[in-house]
Amino acid sequence: MNKIFSITVNSLDETNIIAEKFAKAVKEKGAFVCLYGDIGAGKTAFTKLVAKHLNVKEKVTSPSFVIINEYLSGDLPIYHFDLYRLENEGVKTIVDELTEYSQDGVLTFVEWAEFSDMDLPFDRIEISIEYIDENKRQFSFCADSERYIEILEGIQK
Ligand SMILES: Nc1ncnc2c1ncn2[C@@H]1O[C@H](COP(=O)(O)OP(=O)(O)O)[C@@H](O)[C@H]1O
Ligand SMILES: [Mg+2]
Repeated sequence: MNKIFSITVNSLDETNIIAEKFAKAVKEKGAFVCLYGDIGAGKTAFTKLVAKHLNVKEKVTSPSFVIINEYLSGDLPIYHFDLYRLENEGVKTIVDELTEYSQDGVLTFVEWAEFSDMDLPFDRIEISIEYIDENKRQFSFCADSERYIEILEGIQK
């Protein structure tokens, strides 16, 4: 996948600035977003911040035990998956289901999409988060389609 840009943030506040820009950029049409990074990198933290900027009223929590959380109180429906606890077989069966969450007008985040162990069959944004130190992270934003490249280039500015 094409890396559109990377940015190093020094604090959760700086992550929040990126999250706000991201929220604005996907507010109208939604997006399908896969988040990569080790445990504690900030995949859930980023999702929470984006949800906040889309006016989600519920408390956003990690879906690692429940596989999916949905938030319908904000500006658009948000679905938040965490595939960490699924065995390989389970992940294969969920890929079909994930496809339904890649439609226009909804925002879907998937943590641990690498567990699907295959090329995901739909257009998406990939965000990789690298832990540098306690509060410092490197975010890399990747996309292949014209639509998502445009969104990411808009965020970078
Ligand atoms: N710059 C930052 N960006 C994102 N998270 C950060 C940052 N600095 C510190 N953190 C903290 O790192 C932790 C990341 O945890 P979490 O989002 O649950 O990780 P993951 O979902 O990737 O396992 C949170 O406690 C968050 O507050
Ligand atoms: Mg998480």
